[in-house]
Amino acid sequence: MSLIKLPGLIDVHVHLREPGATHKEDFYTGSRAALAGGFTYILDMPNNLIPTITAELLEEKISLSKEKSVCDIGFHFGTNGENTEEFEKVKNNPKVFGLKIYCNHTTGEMLIENLELLEKVFSAWDSPKPILVHAEGEQLVTTLALALKYERVLHVCHISQKSEVELIRKAKASSQKVSAGVCPHHLYFTKDAVSKMKGYAMMKPPLGTQEDQDALWAGLSDGTIDLIESDHAPHVKLEKNPPAGGQPAFGVPGLETTLGLMFKAVHDGRISKEDVVRLLYTNPKKIFNIPDQPDTYIELDPDLAYVVPQKGFETKCDWSPFSGMTLYGKVQAVVLRGKKVL
Ligand code: DOR
Ligand code: ZN
Repeated sequence: MSLIKLPGLIDVHVHLREPGATHKEDFYTGSRAALAGGFTYILDMPNNLIPTITAELLEEKISLSKEKSVCDIGFHFGTNGENTEEFEKVKNNPKVFGLKIYCNHTTGEMLIENLELLEKVFSAWDSPKPILVHAEGEQLVTTLALALKYERVLHVCHISQKSEVELIRKAKASSQKVSAGVCPHHLYFTKDAVSKMKGYAMMKPPLGTQEDQDALWAGLSDGTIDLIESDHAPHVKLEKNPPAGGQPAFGVPGLETTLGLMFKAVHDGRISKEDVVRLLYTNPKKIFNIPDQPDTYIELDPDLAYVVPQKGFETKCDWSPFSGMTLYGKVQAVVLRGKKVL
């Protein structure tokens, strides 16, 4: 048994739910979950109950997070296509790391389906900070074309289909400024999981086929996919397993299991230890221009196995889709700017 030191990890895609849905998560519980999972810098998404689409709402989130967060947090600004005049006010804010666009239906009220509105957004976000898209299938084709037309830096969130891996590979081959992320749940589950896990396996994008999953692992190995993002999307059990007739909420928590799942991939011979650092630190830092965190590191034993429990997590929703799985490398200590925080 031997401990190794890694840099404090970066998760560029989390939903901490504050303000608006603090029965699921808040900045304190969500940032505790981040530290438990080895993340010292996280980027929070704007699809709150009242979406973060004005400078004022953004400032409210920043001040709430300052009061309650135990790790560093940055934010992605949101857009419904009607708030482009807010972009000037937020794009140079050092706490803003990107603009998030939802092109498919999911949790929240920010969907842009109208092509004219979408084009207006790409035109208006005149910034080197990436535009992040939730864009499945055909929507990905559209957003790649708009990013090219307006010369915007694009980050494609949580790719999940083989065809999307191929689209990104092609765009990169033509030197387009595009990056892509993948979520652990798409790497470890296929849609076959839904019959057993029911609502707990419902998320957006939905789980794919074995062929999709194989393409995601191949995309990770050949550099088509740049980073791992947890898409930590806490919902309480009643929302995932509603009474008969109810629609389960989309999304799964992931902050506390992502690193262990990546060391499982190392253990299984799919990726190397160096890949883990590249996918959870080096690339996220470079793509989103994350500030340095001096004297910040985590300690773990990458060969030590542990079983994901049923409960007892830091995340307020207190469940995991990975319960019962054997993972590797549980975080033993976290030091943030010289202070031991876990
Ligand atoms: O499954 C998901 N849950 N996908 C998303 O895009 C949003 C997220 C959420 O906020 O619950
Ligand atoms: Zn998300």
